[in-house]
Amino acid sequence: MNKFSRIGFILAAAGSAVGLGNIWRFPYITGEYGGGAFILVYLLAILFIGLTVFLAEAVIGQNGQSDVSTSFVSISKTKNQNWKFAGFMVATGLIILSFYSVVLGWILDYVITSFSDLPTEAKVAGANFEKLISDDIGSLIVYHTLIAGSVILIVLKGIKEGIEKINLILMPLLGLILIGLLVYALTLDSFSQAVSFMFTPDFSKIDGHALLAALGQAFFTLSLGVGTILTYSASLPKEANFVKSSFMVAIVDTSIALVAGLIIFSFLFAAGAESAAGPGLVFISLPVIFSGWGILGQIIAVSFFVALVFAGITSAVSMIEPSLRFFIERFKITRAKATLLCGGTFYVLGIVALLSMSKSFGAELTFFGKNAFDIMDFMSSSVMMPIAAMLICIFLGFFVEKEVLKEKFTKHTSETIFNIWYFLIRFVVPIAIIILFLNKLGAI
Ligand code: PFF
Repeated sequence: MNKFSRIGFILAAAGSAVGLGNIWRFPYITGEYGGGAFILVYLLAILFIGLTVFLAEAVIGQNGQSDVSTSFVSISKTKNQNWKFAGFMVATGLIILSFYSVVLGWILDYVITSFSDLPTEAKVAGANFEKLISDDIGSLIVYHTLIAGSVILIVLKGIKEGIEKINLILMPLLGLILIGLLVYALTLDSFSQAVSFMFTPDFSKIDGHALLAALGQAFFTLSLGVGTILTYSASLPKEANFVKSSFMVAIVDTSIALVAGLIIFSFLFAAGAESAAGPGLVFISLPVIFSGWGILGQIIAVSFFVALVFAGITSAVSMIEPSLRFFIERFKITRAKATLLCGGTFYVLGIVALLSMSKSFGAELTFFGKNAFDIMDFMSSSVMMPIAAMLICIFLGFFVEKEVLKEKFTKHTSETIFNIWYFLIRFVVPIAIIILFLNKLGAI
């Protein structure tokens, strides 16, 4: 059977977790919410909520040993067939992958342009970025095709030969690049400024929005609510210690987000730049800073954007796997056919997403005031992911035999840890998700 080795599972799950969410999104939202206090709240959200849902997906996958929908049915108390509808969550991965692949395409462009010329002024950098995403359709389609093609080729080879192998190669390389960048950041005077920005909490900056942003980031960064962790855990040998592995993945993911933050804020503060530049932080602010460092800046720019591509690819392959497994198990089709179907779907959706950002097609692809790209982003991370995460909690908390779960956990950990987890999953996490959900929908 096509299964991960234990280290392969940890690397692949960490590869899924560590992505654009850590190196692009985490630093810019930390900047927007003022640093230290946000990070503290984020760490609490990871520990009490993210890790709880992560363990939940892992235990379903471990017990079910199949795709999302089959696993839900087989471990439910009553074996009610309606649980198969939980399989809806595999679609979320395909939707995220559609626009994630487009963003990875922008980053490919940055890898290439960093070799030749970096903008020396923020105005020029902003204009370049704008031109790329709204005007340069031909290049964007080529980049998206390259990324989508690589993802498809990797998953075609299966869990062991495809996903495990690519993580075995890319994750250590990503680690090396990040260590190199961190060492450089350490030589800058601004490093201590970055440390105090990130680790001195100023609670006046924390409001309801910051709390929710921290929670949403915790879900996104740990790849939750998509069935990814569930599906990967179904390919982890049954006797493996999924509790320890889950903690390790959360620790790796969090450490990489913090390291990325230290690197990026050291760079920004070295140039006296704004920390609250939003999504353009990496695409507009950083290239200008790199350009001030001459040839070394170019090397750093290329390494930085390559690191983003590596991190993104290992996440991208994990977004499509739940739907592949779903079609393979439920409809008994081959991996090749499933890959063609799911790969084709996200590829086409990605083209729609990228065209919807363009000047030429933007108007036709805008609905209710949001372009298709933003709709896909909103539907997946603000609607479908929280619904799925809540369903997972309620399912385990109320529709699965407690003893079954307890036995699974206590094989690897103490009863106290199990009891805390069980309490969090039944009450704390669902309430937190409802608040997040209503807020995102604008009801609060
Ligand atoms: N965790 C990834 C990141 O931080 O970039 C994003 C992600 C991967 C989300 C896989 C969902 C998923 F299923």
